[in-house]
Parts: sequence; C-alpha cells; structure tokens
Amino acid sequence: MKQDLIVILDLGSTSNTVLARAIRELGVYSEIHPHDITVDELKALKNVKGILLNGGENRIVNGQAVEIRPELYDMDIPMLSIDYPQSKCETQLYEIPGQETLKKFIFKECGAEANWNMKNFIEDQVELIRQQVGDRKVLLALSGGVDSSVVAAMLIKAIGQQLVCVHVNHGLMRKNESESVVKVFRDELHANLVYVDASERFLGKLENVADPEQKRKIIGGEFIRVFEEEARKLEGIDFLGQGTIYPDIIESGTKTAKMVKSHHNVGGLPEDLKFELVEPLKQLFKDEVRACGVELGLPYDMVYRQPFPGPGLGVRCLGAITRDRLEAVRESDAILREEFAKAGLDKKVWQYFTVVPDFKSVGMKNNARVFEYMVIIRAINTIDAMTASVEKVDWDVLEKITERILAEVGNVNRVCYDMSPKPPATIEFE
Ligand code: XMP
Repeated sequence: MKQDLIVILDLGSTSNTVLARAIRELGVYSEIHPHDITVDELKALKNVKGILLNGGENRIVNGQAVEIRPELYDMDIPMLSIDYPQSKCETQLYEIPGQETLKKFIFKECGAEANWNMKNFIEDQVELIRQQVGDRKVLLALSGGVDSSVVAAMLIKAIGQQLVCVHVNHGLMRKNESESVVKVFRDELHANLVYVDASERFLGKLENVADPEQKRKIIGGEFIRVFEEEARKLEGIDFLGQGTIYPDIIESGTKTAKMVKSHHNVGGLPEDLKFELVEPLKQLFKDEVRACGVELGLPYDMVYRQPFPGPGLGVRCLGAITRDRLEAVRESDAILREEFAKAGLDKKVWQYFTVVPDFKSVGMKNNARVFEYMVIIRAINTIDAMTASVEKVDWDVLEKITERILAEVGNVNRVCYDMSPKPPATIEFE
C-alpha cells in the first residue's frame, strides 16, 4: 500500500469530517470508522499509523455512552483522544486540535508520511479491489453521473473485463448524454458495457401521468426492473459496484449519527439479487471524487457536470410527459448549456436548466397566430442545495439564449426567466 492512514473513531462527534479533511490537508490519508471497530478490523486496514478518538457531547446514544473496545489500547498504535475523558490515552485534548498540534501528533508521534494524493489513492484502491474481487465479476449501474462514472473508471483500471457496466437510457437523458457514456466507456475505456435503450418502455409507462410523485415513483421503479432484468441475464456476478461517497454514508445515518435522508444508489435492489458491495469511493468527499475522476482520465465535462436528478428531464417536462415537450426541454437545455459555456457561466453557476410547463400561450409567427409552449430558464447558486439564490445572468446572454430557443426549438413561442429563490421555490419544479 502506498499511503499511510490515520483512523478517526466516530464517537458521535459532529466534527469527524472537519478533522478528516484537516488531516488530508496535511497530506495524510484519513478515514472515519465506527467506534466499535475490532482489533482485527483495524489490522485489516493497512498502514494505520495513528488513531484519533473523537469524543464530544454527542457520545450518548440511546441513553448509553459509546466507548471504544478496550483491546484497542493494547495495540501498538499511537492514540490521541479529543474530548473523551473516559479514554485510557495519556494524551488527552479537550477541543479539536489546531494544525500545529495535529502535525505534531501525525508526523512526530505517529511517524506518518505526507503521501496522500490521488495517484496513490487510486493505486491503493486498485490493489484493494483486486484483493476483494479476485477473478470474479462485478456489476455496475452506470448512469453517467459523476460518482458512477468515477467508480466505473476505477473498476476498469482494477479488473478490466471482469466489470460489467449496465447503462439504462430511460429516455429522459439530456441531449447526447447516453451517447457520451457509450463513447467514453465502451469506445475509449473499452469497458464491457451493456447499453439498454428503454426509452419507449419508460415513456409508455409515463403516458398521461401528471402527478409529480407518481412520475418519480414510476421512473425509479421501472429503472430497478430494467436493471434487474439485465442483471438476471448475466451469469456469475458476485459483486455490485456502487458510487457511494462519504456524504451518502453520513446522511443515511451511522451508528452514532441520525439519518438525514436515505440514499439508495441503485434504488434498493430486490433481496434475492444477492451481491457483495464494492464501494471504492466511500471515504471520499465530492471534490475528491472529481479529482479522482480527472486522475483516472475521465473527460472534464463528465467529472465537473452539474447535478442532474435521477428522474432526469422527466421532472422538467411538467405534468404528463409528451414527446414534443420533452424534445423542447432537451433542445432548450442543450442551447442553454452551450451559451452558458460560451459566456463562462458553466464554471460559475451551480445549476442551470430549462423547464417546459404543460400549457400553451398565444403568440405570432410569420404574421399568423400560434398557440405554443413556453420555456422557463432557471439558474441558481447554492452551497448545499437546501437553500438557493438566483444567478443574475447578464441581459445580453439571456437575450441570445432566448433568440436561439425561439428560432431553433419547435412548438415554443415564449421564454421566461425564473426569479424565485429556494425557499419558497425548490430548485426543480417537480
Ligand atoms: P430541490 O428541487 O429539492 O433539489 O430543491 C435539490 C437538488 O437535488 C436535485 N434533485 C435530485 N437529485 N435525484 C437526484 O439525484 C432526484 O430525484 C432529485 N430531485 C432533485 C436537484 O437537481 C437539485 O440539485
């Protein structure tokens, strides 16, 4: 293994992630593990140079104070306890250590080296994946999103043709998105990729369904069914690759932290599809996942793409989805993205997209009355997607986009800009 490791034991502190990032900023890899980790589990994590017992006021879970296993004190690994008075360490701190104290512990007492970088991380993960998988096969649902794309690239590097990627095109992808997944993964990275064009099947199920929640349920449920059908056709698969990242783990709840929202990376697969999981990104934060993708050679646009909801354009083609409006969403979204990129806004604005509502308005084209759809442009900035403010897009850019949408997108005679912050609006319309 290339990297030294500092382990943070999670005793319920809310500062675990801050601490992990502070250590990584010093160039040393750190991982957060549950407080009740065993000696054997710790030994299995190669190159552990030091352990931080991160206590704090939240150490009480269900009325009981959580403790580490006492055997851990007998291991010959330097330990530092923070706000955990019951610990048997000599070295005790009562607040999160500053950089100098951390440096002293990590480099002097633990003798760790600053050898955390993406190249080493990838080499270590490749070795771990090979150990876990051996000569068996891994299945991966490849949506083309950042996390699944980076996991795919990592697994291709580690096990090549033993990885089977399944890309399901639900017909609600952005313009050229599925084509780009096929081009990058099958043509350039030579992945074993099963491409399933399920567009007709999804659009059929969604016909005349106007309720947003119902639409989401149909898309999610159908996705699992298609994926399951493809998985059953394949022989001898023992593992499922997942693009789980560290924030997913925290939000889904750890032994000491409450659940924020559940994350189903493949949407909750049926019980009888029994797979062991391969999750090589589960200790990374989002910016690190992107850096990992770049190091693995994925295209910039794929790694730095803006967030895109699982149900895709389905939640932007408002009400019951029709093919003409879906096409209007897809084409106007492509124009918006192109013009934002030309204006340099793609690197500045957090999320931007178009929406087409399910009603028409009166207009005039070639001196004749028309009754057509409208396109709404939304461009927002946010830190955590919980609240959002509207980007003040330059008027000339908006005019150019409007001009192009009106000229190039069929059945559209009006373009509007959404001025609503979140709250009270949400980022998406459905
Ligand atoms: P809202 O509309 O709730 O969106 O303000 C917050 C962020 O989440 C994205 N979003 C989704 N992402 N699956 C996803 O992976 C979904 O079903 C989904 N719905 C919304 C949305 O694009 C925004 O970035």
